[in-house]
Order: sequence, then structure tokens, then C-alpha cells
Amino acid sequence: MTDRPHHSATDGDIVKGVLVTGASRGIGRAVATAFATRGYRVAVHYASSRHDAETTLRGLDGDGHVVVGGDLADPGEARRIVDEAVEALGRVDVLVNNAAQAPTEQTRHPVAEVDYDGWVAVWRRTVDVNLLGAVNVTWAVARHLIELGNGGSIVNVGSRGAFRGEPEHPAYGASKAALQAFGQSMAQALAPHGISVTSVAPGLVATERQEAALTGPDGDALRGQSPFGRVGTPRDVAAAVVHLASPDAVWSSGAILDVNGASYLR
Ligand SMILES: NC(=O)c1ccc[n+]([C@@H]2O[C@H](COP(=O)([O-])OP(=O)(O)OC[C@H]3O[C@@H](n4cnc5c(N)ncnc54)[C@H](OP(=O)(O)O)[C@@H]3O)[C@@H](O)[C@H]2O)c1
Repeated sequence: MTDRPHHSATDGDIVKGVLVTGASRGIGRAVATAFATRGYRVAVHYASSRHDAETTLRGLDGDGHVVVGGDLADPGEARRIVDEAVEALGRVDVLVNNAAQAPTEQTRHPVAEVDYDGWVAVWRRTVDVNLLGAVNVTWAVARHLIELGNGGSIVNVGSRGAFRGEPEHPAYGASKAALQAFGQSMAQALAPHGISVTSVAPGLVATERQEAALTGPDGDALRGQSPFGRVGTPRDVAAAVVHLASPDAVWSSGAILDVNGASYLR
């Protein structure tokens, strides 16, 4: 018996493809970079920040990478994004559902403060992007992988907030819990096709979006959440994603991996 090579980015003469949603910055950019370093061809997806997605693209090792734009809240766009990635790369073997509407000051919606219209609007948009966007992209990639008949993997980027609670952004926490639960159903549904489905649940990560919080008065408290005395980096999360996507990790299918520096244990 011969073992498959650890994390081979090739299948015979064919270079494997990966679609990373929301790769215009932050964790998505680090994930795209990690796959390119391992020899994959990457489809760098973005919603509106084409310029930033092209910056990600220029930083990738190797060639044959592409950028693909589109709003995941639109089911037609979600399907087209996958079709374009498959067309441009020749094939997609790995999907990373990373894009999300983030919990920001603009999307804050504590139940005791927000008015009803604001409440309804944030919940609708959050579920449309964070859950249904990933759900629809997954459908299209799963059907492509089944047709290829060569296995593959799907990794969802969830959140610690799914377990710990998000009192100021309940729609975000619920959308991530739902995404993780969806991943577990897909792990069972797609195992007969040799496709693994997993999630990572990061704690606070030092992305561009978190910079103000980390350099502000709460910075030390945020770093103190972890006994390592720091917050996560995009590379910490990318390393976990790359591992879970590898053929060697197939027996972890269905797992939700905490990537939070022991800041929250469940
Ligand atoms: N950073 C953290 O502390 C942290 C912690 C736990 C979990 N996470 C999760 O990790 C993932 C990445 O986080 P991040 O901080 O790197 O994200 P980010 O900086 O907020 O970037 C979000 C990405 O998602 C894309 N996106 C947003 N809305 C979209 C839409 N409607 N359709 C398509 N794409 C859309 C953005 O594209 P554009 O640039 O084009 O708008 C961008 O590429 C997210 O799932 C987040 O929930 C992050």
C-alpha cells in the first residue's frame, strides 16, 4: 500500500484548484497565500474590493491564479462565482467558505437597543451572506467535486462566537453556529463521495479590521483573553485550514476545530 503524499497539490499532471471566498484581505488572504505556497492554483474571491483582491493575487507564489468577484448574498452570483472559478482554474478541489459580514460598529444590534427595522435588516443580511452564501457556493462546489469523482474538501470559517455568544452581534453568532452545523450535515452527506467537510472556529484574529481595537485602550484585555498573551494571526488560522483541507485530515471530517489559543474551552 502506498500512502498519498502529504498535502500534494498535484493529481498526476493536474494542479489542484482552491476557491477561497473573501480573500481580498485578512484571513482569506492568508489562506490563499498558504495554498499557493503549497502549489495550488487559487481563485481569490472578493465582493467589491477588486483592487485588494488583486493585491492578494500579486502576492501569491506560482502562477495560474485568478480573481473572481461577486456578492454571495445573491444566489445567482454565488453559483456564477463557482462556475467562473472552475472555468478559470480548470477544476476546484478545495473550497474555503471564508467570506462573511463581520461584526462591526455598523452591524451592532443589541436586542435592548436596536429598533425593529434595524434588527430585521441586520439579521436578514447576515444570514444571507454568512450562511446562505456559503450554503449556495457549497452546493455548486459539491456537485463539481462529485462529478470529478476525486474526493476533495470543504473548510468553513466559523467563529468562537458560535459557542461563547455574541450579545452585541447575535445574528453573527447564530450565522456561524448555523454554518458549523451545516458543515456537519455536509460531512455526512458528502463522505460517500470521498469529500471531507470541516470548520475552524477562530477567536480574535489580528486582521486589518481588528487593528483599531488592538491598538486602543482594550488591546491588552483582548490579548489577555488567551493565556498565550496574544491574539491569533491570519497565519494561525490559515495553517489550520490548510491542514483540514489536506487528504491526510480526511478522518477529521465533521470536526469543528477551535483556533483560539485556549481562550475559550468548550
Ligand atoms: N478577524 C477575526 O477576529 C475573526 C474571528 C473569528 C472568525 N472570523 C471569521 O473569519 C473570516 C474572515 O475574517 P476577516 O476578519 O479576515 O474578514 P474581513 O476583513 O471582514 O473580510 C471579509 C471578506 O469577506 C468578503 N465579503 C463580505 N461580504 C461579502 C458578500 N456579501 N459577498 C461576498 N464576499 C463578501 C469581503 O470582500 P470585500 O473586501 O470585497 O468586501 C472580504 O474579502 C470571516 O468568516 C469571519 O467571520 C474572523
